[in-house]
Amino acid sequence: MPPILPAGQRVLVAEFADNPMDAVEHHMALHPMPAPDPARLGPDEVLLAVRSAAVSWVDLLMTSGQYQHMPRPPYGPGMEYSGTVEAVGAAVDPARVAVGDRILADFMQVGARSGGAYQAAGGFASYAVIPQQAAYRIPDGFSFDEACCLLGNYETAYHCLVARGQLRAGESVLILGASGSTGMAAVQMAKLLGATVIAAGRSDTKLATVRAHGADHVVNIRGTDADAGGVRRFRDEVKALTGGKGVDLVYDAVGGATTLEAMRAMAFGGRLLIVGWTSTPDVARGKGQRGAPNANQLPTNIMQMKSLTVMGCPAVIAVAHDPSLRTERLARIWQWVREGRIRPHVSHRYALAQFREAMRARWQGDVTGGCVLNP
Ligand SMILES: NC(=O)c1ccc[n+]([C@@H]2O[C@H](COP(=O)([O-])OP(=O)(O)OC[C@H]3O[C@@H](n4cnc5c(N)ncnc54)[C@H](OP(=O)(O)O)[C@@H]3O)[C@@H](O)[C@H]2O)c1
Repeated sequence: MPPILPAGQRVLVAEFADNPMDAVEHHMALHPMPAPDPARLGPDEVLLAVRSAAVSWVDLLMTSGQYQHMPRPPYGPGMEYSGTVEAVGAAVDPARVAVGDRILADFMQVGARSGGAYQAAGGFASYAVIPQQAAYRIPDGFSFDEACCLLGNYETAYHCLVARGQLRAGESVLILGASGSTGMAAVQMAKLLGATVIAAGRSDTKLATVRAHGADHVVNIRGTDADAGGVRRFRDEVKALTGGKGVDLVYDAVGGATTLEAMRAMAFGGRLLIVGWTSTPDVARGKGQRGAPNANQLPTNIMQMKSLTVMGCPAVIAVAHDPSLRTERLARIWQWVREGRIRPHVSHRYALAQFREAMRARWQGDVTGGCVLNP
């Protein structure tokens, strides 16, 4: 007998907003979700009761169509989530997925960041239906909250530091946005790879957590001068931490004035990894209009005199061009998880009905590492 399940709830984005906070206040709402009927599952489908859904910067940017990948509204946000298997279709391989399993859904195959048939299956919901090939069993000792903060963040860190940055043991790396969810992953991974890790951020409290997760040095870059983008001069401090040489690699999730100052702290021949631009979120127009009228611009004079290499590092788009990139990085990440060498830090947890508070916390920079909803 298939289980009889209670009705649930889900969050929907009705239409693209001007910006993420406009979406949170005016264009998102919690709706009833009908009780799922396991008898209607396709042969390869798996019904999950969602236990944890990450609330990421990308989830927020998507709500205003300011992210390069746009789901069609109305859509269900929550691109990465984990849960318990409640029912499976007739052709699901029990060696792969079985009722009762703890599962992480693959954000590149299901949910708002994916394309295709399962894009509507967002994690800000009580239930989600996913195909069996998108279901990864969560290793013992890893919580639902930790699992839903794994792939997007560590795959980004891997693509940037390893596939693009070619980080080698003994090199130094400056991580901008180190307290963020991808930043914390990058700190752990760079340390694991044998680098000297300098973590930059604007809060001593958050930086203390980042240090506890592996950073060798932390630098608070908050400045008081709004004309300088709220960033103080930190180049001398970073250079001093590298014996005067400057850093070999910069992992840049912040953009704007922070990038410009970081370039001054780079070694001759250094590599600058463009990860994202949290300090300048209005690069693209809101409401899903194409174009990036406010894109960051970098000084060619510094690139030239320092012989810098600047690299774009889009972790998902790159896989569309070369699928083998993902095969390698998933293998490494799952291996490190099994060995207990990487583990996401989750600082904020909310009930589904508190999705607005959770999204505000992420947007305002209150979070260290992961922020999750527990439907
Ligand atoms: N390349 C890729 O494939 C890829 C994949 C995922 C995400 N991303 C992008 O990478 C960026 C970071 O994502 P995330 O998920 O790590 O974000 P996040 O968790 O929100 O963290 C970003 C960090 O940036 C810092 N920050 C926020 N606003 C800032 C401001 N106004 N000025 C200076 N620093 C600020 C904050 O650190 P402090 O408060 O400590 O300063 C925050 O912890 C985003 O732009 C995202 O779109 C790229």
